[in-house]
Amino acid sequence: MKNNINGFSKLSKEKKIDWIAETYFAQPEKAVQLIKSYWNADAKLQQLHDDFIENTITNFYLPLGIAPNFLINGKYYTVPMTIEESSVVAAAAKSAKYWSERGGFKTTVLNSEKIGQVHFTYNGDATKLKAFFTKIKNKFYEDTNHTTANMQKRGGGIVDIVLKDKTALLDNYFQLHATFQTKDSMGANFINSCLEQFAKTLKREALAHAEFNAEEKNIDIIMSILSNYVTNCIVRVEVSCPVEQLSEKNIPNPKDFAEKMVKAIRIAEVEPYRAVTHNKGIMNGIDAVVLATGNDFRAVEAGIHAYASKDGQYTSLSHAKIENDTFSYWMEIPLALGTVGGLTSLHPMVKLALEMLENPSSTELMQIVAATGLAQNFAALRSLTTTGIQEGHMKMHLGNIINQFNATPNERTLIENHFEKNPVSHAAVVAFIENLRK
Ligand code: MEV
Repeated sequence: MKNNINGFSKLSKEKKIDWIAETYFAQPEKAVQLIKSYWNADAKLQQLHDDFIENTITNFYLPLGIAPNFLINGKYYTVPMTIEESSVVAAAAKSAKYWSERGGFKTTVLNSEKIGQVHFTYNGDATKLKAFFTKIKNKFYEDTNHTTANMQKRGGGIVDIVLKDKTALLDNYFQLHATFQTKDSMGANFINSCLEQFAKTLKREALAHAEFNAEEKNIDIIMSILSNYVTNCIVRVEVSCPVEQLSEKNIPNPKDFAEKMVKAIRIAEVEPYRAVTHNKGIMNGIDAVVLATGNDFRAVEAGIHAYASKDGQYTSLSHAKIENDTFSYWMEIPLALGTVGGLTSLHPMVKLALEMLENPSSTELMQIVAATGLAQNFAALRSLTTTGIQEGHMKMHLGNIINQFNATPNERTLIENHFEKNPVSHAAVVAFIENLRK
């Protein structure tokens, strides 16, 4: 079979590219040229990126944009955002400026605990297992001393280890549910190393436990892994101001605007179809900063969406109310982030992004990310409840179409002037350009 290959990972980068070019492209030379045109001229820098993953053939660009004027707890931040979607950075910047003139974002880290679990089966008397666990609990700490020593110096470590009986859900299923403080690192490696040691300790001690019968001694470790559902690693972000202060050029009637915002959020609170899109808008901001700062956006996404359904139905992450003529708008989300370790010290753009944020601690970064998420949500709701989302989107879209057609500066001005007053659609722009070029 032509498209099947053994030993691909062993091929050199050049050979990998050749194989792909020959296998999939009508014009292999052109494909090779395109792939290589995205290589960095600095071979050392390219090697660094090659080594992040396996089978790297080239780089895949995403823009790094900047949203300035984020006033968070009285301090201004310029927020780096990595995202491909037009309008997102502009929207964040607009919201940031708007709220900076109304007291800014108030954020609080409610807690910063991480979670990891050893999942195992035990076929026997649960009370005997509980007594055994209490007896050997110290061993888990002792056996992980070599891993935890450094973390402890930084003020982190294992917070607690609890035995959980999950047999009501699944036959013989128990777990060690451990909590950790990982300070400024996201802590995945640290947590997983501790957990794998806990599993070994559990197995070893069970085999040596005189009170267990043969079956009870034979604890079966299924897996040991951190949880991305960080329900005790929560940041809260809020903005508020007197309703009349919401007024500005596009908000002539602040009371109507505030009421519509509250209703829009109520809809997302009760209607999952809307909630998913509403929260997607929040994630536009969150993911962009998470990515720019070298954090794991898949972990953040999974955790936040699980949190959005914690009460049994998927719902809005943000909330709003009007009380005593004050509009308040807030959100609480789980966020496990790191500002040391992982990509943060490897990827030059991540280092740059963190430096731009004045090298925040992980808890400070949680607050910046949460504020960006709320800013994004505010911008989306503000458009949706006033002009509609397409006005802003189409403006950005226009720029992309102009680029697609390699418009000259003169053509660009003519196109932009025309579409200031006329509705933008792909077809209308194409027709206009074709007409210009006749
Ligand atoms: C688009 O990326 C995000 C929005 O759909 C969010 C929302 O509807 O709230 C505009």
